[in-house]
Amino acid sequence: MPKAVVLGAAGGIGQPLSLLLKASHLITELSLFDIVNTPGVVADLSHIATPAQVTGYLPPNDGLVNALKGADVVVIPAGVPRKPGMTRDDLFRINAGIVRDLAKAIATTSPKAFVLVISNPVNSTVPIFAEVFREHGVFDARRLFGVTTLDVVRAQTFVAEVQGDGRNAPNVTVPVVGGHSGVTIVPLLSQSQPPLAANTSEEKLKELTHRIQFGGDEVVKAKDGAGSATLSMAYAGAEFAFKVLRALGGEKGIISPSYVHLSADANGGGVIHKELGRPVEYFSAPVELGPNGVERILPLGKVTAYEKALLEAALPELEGNITKGSEFITAAA
Ligand code: NAI
Repeated sequence: MPKAVVLGAAGGIGQPLSLLLKASHLITELSLFDIVNTPGVVADLSHIATPAQVTGYLPPNDGLVNALKGADVVVIPAGVPRKPGMTRDDLFRINAGIVRDLAKAIATTSPKAFVLVISNPVNSTVPIFAEVFREHGVFDARRLFGVTTLDVVRAQTFVAEVQGDGRNAPNVTVPVVGGHSGVTIVPLLSQSQPPLAANTSEEKLKELTHRIQFGGDEVVKAKDGAGSATLSMAYAGAEFAFKVLRALGGEKGIISPSYVHLSADANGGGVIHKELGRPVEYFSAPVELGPNGVERILPLGKVTAYEKALLEAALPELEGNITKGSEFITAAA
């Protein structure tokens, strides 16, 4: 049975995420690392009567390396969250350095692990992981995932509300593609199941799209300086980790959107490149998971003129974010 590791385990996302992983019967080992407070989180979680054995580490005495030894799945919510008044550049500057160092430790200690990146800005932090892994000769695009599940979870919830039945949210599916911030988040509402009413006005579609793209702002505002989404993110991160773990255990046909390097697919993302009309390197799309990670990336399928315009608006920003992340490593080399 697999070992899961959480890096940033004592944080706002890290603690509830570690709780959800500890409560799961899909793992037998749970290893927690943070620069502060891990012992308390471990003592607390270790009293829960589930199979996973919990261990915790702090930086001294090679804590990070020891946390990562034998890891099958590493989930990473380490870093600072967005606060009101903070620009994306401020966030990037702090988190880029943090994830670079974590990536180096994974590359040398557990290069075969599946790496699930939550630390923002995901559009740029995933390329940072990829470049560090490349430098160490261990990059396997099938094993590196940007966690965009929160966008999908929000889309399910908000679409169910618009359909007048919030309780049906778990049964709603909406592909959310592109990237993981603002306008780079593209919900393909025309592919919602159950479908939106045929007479849904363009104004309503715009409102719904905006709410999915900027749902994070609702939480930042409501928390009023105390951080960004943590509980819904922990739920979404655990959902995605469970899918990866179930696929690792041999379950077939598991599909989830995730932000990946398009070479993860046998045809190198060719179908999506064709659909988009340009060779974007990283993209969030529905991905079929298997025991080696990404088995294949599914095409976006039929999109409406409105969705095509959203994709066109997303791509320049997404490409800029990707370059910024990649160059953070390659320019320093
Ligand atoms: P937080 O500040 O509550 O927790 C972050 C934790 O990371 C802290 O415990 C901190 O000690 C730890 N940390 C800092 N440097 C570290 C290092 N070098 N190694 C290990 N741990 C380290 O922040 P929160 O709210 O948990 O958010 C974490 C990250 O997740 C942020 O970057 C945030 O923007 C991102 N996020 C991502 C979402 C997504 O959908 N992918 C949604 C919401 C937040």
